[in-house]
Amino acid sequence: MPYYSEEIVDEVRNATDIVDVISQYVQLKKKGASYFGLCPFHSEKTGSFSVSREKQIYYCFGCGAGGNVITFLRNYENLTFPEAVEQLASRAGIALPTRQMSQAERERADRRSRLLTVHKDAAVYYYKMLRSEYGKDAYAYFKERGLSDDTMRSFGLGYAGKRPGELYKYLKSKGYEDDILKDSGLVTPDKERGARDKFWNRAIFPIMDANSKVIAFGGRVMGEGEPKYLNSPETMIFDKSRTLYGLHVAKKTRRKEMILCEGYMDVIALHQAGFDNAVASLGTSLTSGHAALLKRYTGDVYLSYDSDGAGKKAVLRAIPILREAGIVCRVINMEPYKDPDEFIKALGKESYEERIANAENSFLFTIRMLEEKFDTKDPDGRTAFHRAVAAKILEFPEEIERKNYIDAVCRIYDINVPAMEQLITHLAADGYRSVAHTPADNTRQPKRKRFGATDGLREAQRLLLTRICESPELYPSVRAAIDPEDFTEGLYRDVARMLFSQIEETGQPDPAAIAERFPEDEDQREIGAMFHTATEDRESIEEQKKMLQEVILRLLRESLKYKTDAAGETGEGFDDILKEKKRIEQMSRQNIL
Ligand code: UTP
Ligand code: MN
Repeated sequence: MPYYSEEIVDEVRNATDIVDVISQYVQLKKKGASYFGLCPFHSEKTGSFSVSREKQIYYCFGCGAGGNVITFLRNYENLTFPEAVEQLASRAGIALPTRQMSQAERERADRRSRLLTVHKDAAVYYYKMLRSEYGKDAYAYFKERGLSDDTMRSFGLGYAGKRPGELYKYLKSKGYEDDILKDSGLVTPDKERGARDKFWNRAIFPIMDANSKVIAFGGRVMGEGEPKYLNSPETMIFDKSRTLYGLHVAKKTRRKEMILCEGYMDVIALHQAGFDNAVASLGTSLTSGHAALLKRYTGDVYLSYDSDGAGKKAVLRAIPILREAGIVCRVINMEPYKDPDEFIKALGKESYEERIANAENSFLFTIRMLEEKFDTKDPDGRTAFHRAVAAKILEFPEEIERKNYIDAVCRIYDINVPAMEQLITHLAADGYRSVAHTPADNTRQPKRKRFGATDGLREAQRLLLTRICESPELYPSVRAAIDPEDFTEGLYRDVARMLFSQIEETGQPDPAAIAERFPEDEDQREIGAMFHTATEDRESIEEQKKMLQEVILRLLRESLKYKTDAAGETGEGFDDILKEKKRIEQMSRQNIL
């Protein structure tokens, strides 16, 4: 994806009139200083969608959608930031500079595109096999699971056959070198024993990115067998923590919310039943990368994870991650069925629609899970539960939110309201203030802020990232001390994760490539700051290392606070926390860099 400088983006924006652009999509009428029309982002009968020529922004008084002309194209046409810039540039007749790529960058880009072609060819191959005589067992398997031909087609389902190395043979016949095939993770070339395919005798689910490009595969045994699913390894084009299965379809949904579930079959069954807004994070727990990706398309997520214990725990882990990304989420109850696939098969789509309507507020879900840990028949157990509730309620920064949740929780669990209020006041006076979560945050300005991430802490993280970039030789010691997950907030964690893997893969940091992955202006600006934090040249190397060590320790302590809090929530992981505490203490007594 190309990256355009702020100057050129400004130039394109200045050469564009937002009223002209939006008029192509929405019928606008002049009223006073603004233009009004029917909002394309929500359904309405009166025009509350306004466009200002003077300010070059739009805003909907009905649903709150708003932004500049680039935001409009991104949301209306589902374009990426650079795609929107390109479209506007060609409209305005501005030639965009083609950024000069270095030799290494060109090779990387070339390799990426070749990996994509390998995957496309492999997908076509599997697809054809499923529809051939040879694939009739797999076809019968999908049929038996209730999938229609249409569904199979729209998800590109396929079959990997039983003969050894057949995909390898096919791809070789298309002229691919062993080297690129090996990188694809789809085959393991072996001079002596011949090449082996990653997938054989499995039903195949191609995994696509948001632009419908095949980037990996999942393969299921047909019937019983272990492992049930095999997935492609992570490659240059497949980053599990940023991929959501089904997103290429779900991003086009007319529904306002998205449904997040666990498995391939859940997504497919939901789509077949008309819920074209379902996606899944495959075989990994939800990451802040997934949340950021979701947030590009919606601010409302319904969690539809498995009903078993593991699924409930996964929901508890997902809630704060979504909340931190500014997503409001609700939890769908699928009892007595295991997952959405089984639910729909048993009760049908109307019942699922009802479950969506009755989905539980995520905070109330958390409290309900919390209650199960206490013996509330016992007065002491009940008090302990009330304390835990009070601590959770304190996480809401706004009085009115706290008040509303106090009312709701007290009603449900039959708690005396004034007593709860007093408990909360006492806890607050004791200085208890959770650093764990950002409040659900739909407003735009204070995005991503949370109690722990003060400006100072953010500055410290920027310093660390800039420093690693300038002196990659420090990376191994930094990496040994700190994990990307220790960074305090979503964006920083994502950037750290990418930076670390760039250095591991190529030895070279490449901040511009990182910025390309974040199309939002706000993110790009922040990323710019992350890599441009001044480090003092005047200080000696030793002094710089000392300062960096302080930064790392500070981050680790902050992260520990966060983990301690999360452990209080799930009642798990205290051993690891003690270990981590010891490790930090030890590090603080020596030179780690
Ligand atoms: P599930 O076992 O809940 O998947 O695992 P499912 O979609 O309901 O499976 P079936 O086909 O209906 O029995 C959830 C997800 O976890 C990953 C897969 O992505 C799966 O869809 N997984 C599961 C694996 O990667 N490997 C496994 O062995 C099992
Ligand atoms: Mn299932």
